[in-house]
Amino acid sequence: MEELYSISSSKDVERMRIHYFGKKGTIASLMRFLRDATPEDRPNLGKIINDTKEELSSHLENTQKRLLIQERQHRFAKEAIDVTLPAEPFRLGIEHPVQKVLQEVVAIFSSFGFSVGLAPDLDTEHYNFTGLNFAEDHPAKDMQDTFYFPKDYLLRTHTSNVQVHLMENQKPPMKIIAPGKCFRNETVSSRSHVFFHQIEGFYIDQNVCFTELLELMRAFWPKLFGTKVKVRFRPSYFPFVEPGLEVDIACTQCQSQGCKLCKYTGWLEVAGAGMIHPNVLDQAKIDSEVYQGYAFGIGVERIAMLLYGIEDIRTFSRNDPRVFEQVALKYSSVL
Ligand code: DAH
Repeated sequence: MEELYSISSSKDVERMRIHYFGKKGTIASLMRFLRDATPEDRPNLGKIINDTKEELSSHLENTQKRLLIQERQHRFAKEAIDVTLPAEPFRLGIEHPVQKVLQEVVAIFSSFGFSVGLAPDLDTEHYNFTGLNFAEDHPAKDMQDTFYFPKDYLLRTHTSNVQVHLMENQKPPMKIIAPGKCFRNETVSSRSHVFFHQIEGFYIDQNVCFTELLELMRAFWPKLFGTKVKVRFRPSYFPFVEPGLEVDIACTQCQSQGCKLCKYTGWLEVAGAGMIHPNVLDQAKIDSEVYQGYAFGIGVERIAMLLYGIEDIRTFSRNDPRVFEQVALKYSSVL
């Protein structure tokens, strides 16, 4: 009997149930005893056995419930969150160096009065080439350079498509800066990639002249690379500008002394620019007799490589946050 009051597990409850209520249990033997009792004793004895049965089963049931509650409390206590424990370290993401450069360049040009414009990455021959005065047989249109898709679609090879879209939809004066992705079907190496970023800029108004473009380029690069940076211009050819030029800065790695990065020339090409070709304006129904404009295109990865000392362009698309963390730590003072 004592055992009944010291049950400490569900298993013991089951054992007791079998002990009292099983086929060969105490109650069964009491029932046999009842069968052999005299008719006078039987009613009393029957009542005693019944009362005992009821008391036993309700005791076992209550014990089972109590144990379940205890077990649950025990489990909860183990699972409970200890709010006083120090938190697990939380790893923050890191800003991509290309995004940093894009934002910084846009911020500088915004301070010069440019507003941001956009155009699609998936575009047509008209916006990427024809509207920009590319001749039908221009080599840049070759299958090797451009990713073509059915129905005249292609992945834009430069951000200059923004010029055509916006010229067709807006009226001068326009002073736009347009950051975006570009795609070229080139062999991937440490210096070139199929996927990269450019920032296009252009200004169209009456009486826009070439020296304004040169002044803008002279004012911009020191804001990004520091006041000591030297800028130079070289004549160049792009179908959508006339005259066209390329912008170089003195190599930031070797201070123009000549190194592997600048291919021992002392200079690095950072942008293309020029006066917008009258054909481009006229095709977009902007009268080239009335309006003039300049345009420029800046390669973003090149700048990010220079600013952050990254030697392989593939680093940007590998997207290893540990590398970007190191870059951010080492160059926290740059941008
Ligand atoms: N779209 C040219 C390229 O991808 C870069 C460029 C050159 C843009 C001259 C211009 C420009 O706006 O005036 O190589």
